[in-house]
Amino acid sequence: MGTDGTHHGSGGTTDDAVEEGGDAQRARLLEGAFAAATDAIILTDATRPDNPIVAVNPAFERITGYAPHEVVGRNCRFLQGDDREQPELDTLRAALARGESSLVVLRNYRKDGALFWNELRVAPVRDGAGRVTHFVGVQNDITDRVAAEQALVRRNAELEAARDDLQAQAVELADAQQARDRFMATVSHEMRTPINAVMGYLDLLDMGLAGELADPQREYVHRVRRSSRQLLELVNDVLDLTRAAYGHLEVDTGPVNATPVVEEAAALLEEQARRKHIALTVELPPGDPPAVQADRRRLRQILVNLLANAVKFTERGGVALRVTRRDGALHFAVEDTGIGIAPEALPFVFDEFYQADSNLTRRYGGTGLGLAISRRLARLMGGDLTAASEVGRGSTFTFWLPLATADAAPAAPAAATRDAAGTAAV
Ligand SMILES: Cc1cc2nc3c(=O)[nH]c(=O)nc-3n(C[C@H](O)[C@H](O)[C@H](O)COP(=O)(O)O)c2cc1C
Repeated sequence: MGTDGTHHGSGGTTDDAVEEGGDAQRARLLEGAFAAATDAIILTDATRPDNPIVAVNPAFERITGYAPHEVVGRNCRFLQGDDREQPELDTLRAALARGESSLVVLRNYRKDGALFWNELRVAPVRDGAGRVTHFVGVQNDITDRVAAEQALVRRNAELEAARDDLQAQAVELADAQQARDRFMATVSHEMRTPINAVMGYLDLLDMGLAGELADPQREYVHRVRRSSRQLLELVNDVLDLTRAAYGHLEVDTGPVNATPVVEEAAALLEEQARRKHIALTVELPPGDPPAVQADRRRLRQILVNLLANAVKFTERGGVALRVTRRDGALHFAVEDTGIGIAPEALPFVFDEFYQADSNLTRRYGGTGLGLAISRRLARLMGGDLTAASEVGRGSTFTFWLPLATADAAPAAPAAATRDAAGTAAV
């Protein structure tokens, strides 16, 4: 090659060898290094018109496919094909004009026409007087890296598009859910009127106002009435839940004496328990328990619901409703000796339409809405409802409500920290 200025070592073995062997040996060594380099190296003559290539190393041919004799004497721009609109070329052109080095990334084409991304470093080579006589360029083929980056950018764009899609779907879903809730609320509300009419006329029939009924007729009237009542309960549950979804489930709380409400609820389930030959007991604290802060109708609804569930799932033994006063709250525990709930199912018993075992739904009926509504109501009244259970031994549903009296304070903090049976998950 015969280029100067490459030798400035301070005494390594290579330098010594070059030193000892003189110019010829040094030229051979530099030639060997030029040939061994894995990046393509291009040397151009800046003193001749259009800066023609004077030498390329073997790596150039490996990368571009062009043999040295095909390129020597030409300007490097033939690698650009028709692809001349590249801002990076302006950068390079300006650096070359000023005799400065530069680093650019260019779209180039191999001899076979395949695109490759060329990370090109160009530096001026100066003579003893500081004039630029040559340029040396080093090509690094970064096609794989660019492809990986482009794939990443594409993937990112895809992910962003997917995220936007999901967001749009979530909005649609929320709209649809709202529309469904509105529809359900309207329909269930409208259904109550005709069901009430049916039940009213059944009462009239039962009372003999349309003539005495024969025994089978009376029995049929009773059956229709039972079914109508079930239907009304379902419709009421659906209405409650859809209102809850809207945030329109309201409770009207004030001081309520729990004793008569507990007794009413128990009386309602007495007949059913007797028919199943199971005990139904109520334990109230001695004396009259202090009033709770509650909506009387809703308190009754929760108690009836818990007792009805307990009676439904108990075949032997009994159901006990225990009322105790603790930490500024009244606790209502409905305990049964029924089939129990599997631990893996327990967390879901308060989900809407959930029944621990779909076989049970067929056997015992029920919508699975009652517990979901009861928990919402308990929370709306400032308390909570929780469940504990053991398969084969039975379940206990406990809910508590804050006491209404001023002297019951501090109800909230005490209730929130007390957690022996997980009953205070406020
Ligand atoms: C040493 C050296 C190596 C070069 N290597 C390449 C190259 O690999 N690919 C390329 O597209 N351009 C390369 N160029 C740039 C072109 O030769 C030319 O300078 C560029 O296209 C801008 O000038 P133009 O507008 O006259 O074409 C190189 C230039 C020099 C001085």
